[in-house]
Amino acid sequence: MVCRLDAGRKVLEPCSIIIFGASGDLTARKLIPALYHLYKEKQMPEAFRVIGFARREKTDAAWRGELRAALDQFSRTKPVDDQVWQEFSQQISYCEGDLNDAAAYRSLETRLASFGSEPLHRNLLFYLATSPSQFGQIVEQVHRAGLLQKDGGRGWQRVVIEKPFGHDLESARQLNRELTRYAHEQQVFRIDHYLGKETVQNILMFRFSNAVFERLWNRESIDHFQITVSEKLGVGQRGGYYEEAGALRDMVQNHLLQVLSLVAMEPPVSLDAESIRDEKVKLLKSIRLLSPEDIARQVVRGQYVAGTVAGEPRPGYRQEPKVKPDSNVETYVALKLLIDNWRWSGVPFFLRTGKNLPLSTSEVRVQFRPTPHVLFAAQCGPKLDPNALTLRLQPNEGISLRFNGKVPGASLTVRPVRMHFSYDAEFGAYTPEAYERLLLEAMAGDATLFIRRDEVETAWQIVDGIRKAWDGNPLSNREFYAAGTWGPVAADDLLASGGHVWREPLVVS
Ligand SMILES: NC(=O)c1ccc[n+]([C@@H]2O[C@H](COP(=O)([O-])OP(=O)(O)OC[C@H]3O[C@@H](n4cnc5c(N)ncnc54)[C@H](OP(=O)(O)O)[C@@H]3O)[C@@H](O)[C@H]2O)c1
Repeated sequence: MVCRLDAGRKVLEPCSIIIFGASGDLTARKLIPALYHLYKEKQMPEAFRVIGFARREKTDAAWRGELRAALDQFSRTKPVDDQVWQEFSQQISYCEGDLNDAAAYRSLETRLASFGSEPLHRNLLFYLATSPSQFGQIVEQVHRAGLLQKDGGRGWQRVVIEKPFGHDLESARQLNRELTRYAHEQQVFRIDHYLGKETVQNILMFRFSNAVFERLWNRESIDHFQITVSEKLGVGQRGGYYEEAGALRDMVQNHLLQVLSLVAMEPPVSLDAESIRDEKVKLLKSIRLLSPEDIARQVVRGQYVAGTVAGEPRPGYRQEPKVKPDSNVETYVALKLLIDNWRWSGVPFFLRTGKNLPLSTSEVRVQFRPTPHVLFAAQCGPKLDPNALTLRLQPNEGISLRFNGKVPGASLTVRPVRMHFSYDAEFGAYTPEAYERLLLEAMAGDATLFIRRDEVETAWQIVDGIRKAWDGNPLSNREFYAAGTWGPVAADDLLASGGHVWREPLVVS
């Protein structure tokens, strides 16, 4: 039986989407392609407008032309449907102005008023695709222009922001204060695009709609977790950004801790946004904070040196453009976290992420405890491979279960075998981009897939101590790894000390 958990396709009220940072990379690569696909699939509101706001001078026609060229390059379906684009692009216009200039916001208000429809003028989604240092100023200016009301006034107004949400706890708090001066927390939609991925959303469905697994989802049955988010690419042209961020801020503070909280949280009382986010925060708060001694034992950082990835030579991080030649910024992090609650007491959660690794993959490996007694010790050695469940978040999205089976024949030989479920095989190759789902939910006002203020701040609390322990501490020789390998040797030692090994991420074709 198919069971629909929401009310089906959401009926969206007419609205205008205002993109600040309209000439930027995010707008061209993600936002416009996502909106185009939503329109193509008839998921946009019956009436809508998209206004791009940026500094550079250009006409509506010029901006549409640029967006069309970008769509040809970045659309997930090709070729772009000319007729659909023609209709869609009629709803798009460009508003030139400086973010500092109050007059520019007044022009924006005039533009919105010119739409001649109350909902298009009053239901406003502000997408802040600019540098985070400009968020506070934009929110203040749209408020002063009468476009953003805390009480909602007539219609609704929402502010969508992109990570990074600050660079430490203090700056995150400061940003949250700036945003909530002019908007209620319920009007702020913080995007971690990982939460827009079908496979990440499926973690909750999988856990809470399958008694067979949820019954085992605790310290009695699970030995440990391995959460891997690896990238084959190096930092490339993003050296300037990466020098300020590093892997801990760029990946662990958000994507990895988000995945961890979904994997480990308690069942929510309902599927509404606040109930789910309450449980995620509760889980994040139960992660044991690491003392400087714990950090030395439980956290490994690394930086890539020159090597080869898939036969392609790669420079070392310090040789990348806009990177200091003596930089100590980490391009790899592995850590062991413990969760102090009833369910997970004593179960290690190993997290790792890095650049220039052999594969681009994201997965959660659940390693079950071994059987208490090995009947086949003579044939198999003292240890049979314990069962493992792998949630493959990307690519080849799906779920795999490893168990032991008898090899056919007269001899009594046991070996691990796997059962694979694949999204594509089961549901066809419909994989909407995360941004499509997130934009849709933001227009609908459903905050489930967005990160709440206390989630952001709790996650920073976890990583801030680590950052402090590293600051001013140069990398040692053991912390470098060659591009194309699975990270520094210290990361293997992290697991070996507890008798574990990193499992190579599963590749299912
Ligand atoms: N790119 C991605 O894939 C990606 C992924 C995740 C998160 N993000 C986040 O998304 C945000 C945008 O990233 P991006 O890569 O798209 O940035 P970007 O390419 O540097 O674009 C910045 C945009 O901001 C506008 N802008 C800057 N200063 C302005 C001012 N004073 N007045 C008016 N407009 C101004 C620029 O307009 P002009 O060109 O007219 O100056 C440009 O449209 C950042 O917070 C980033 O961290 C991006």
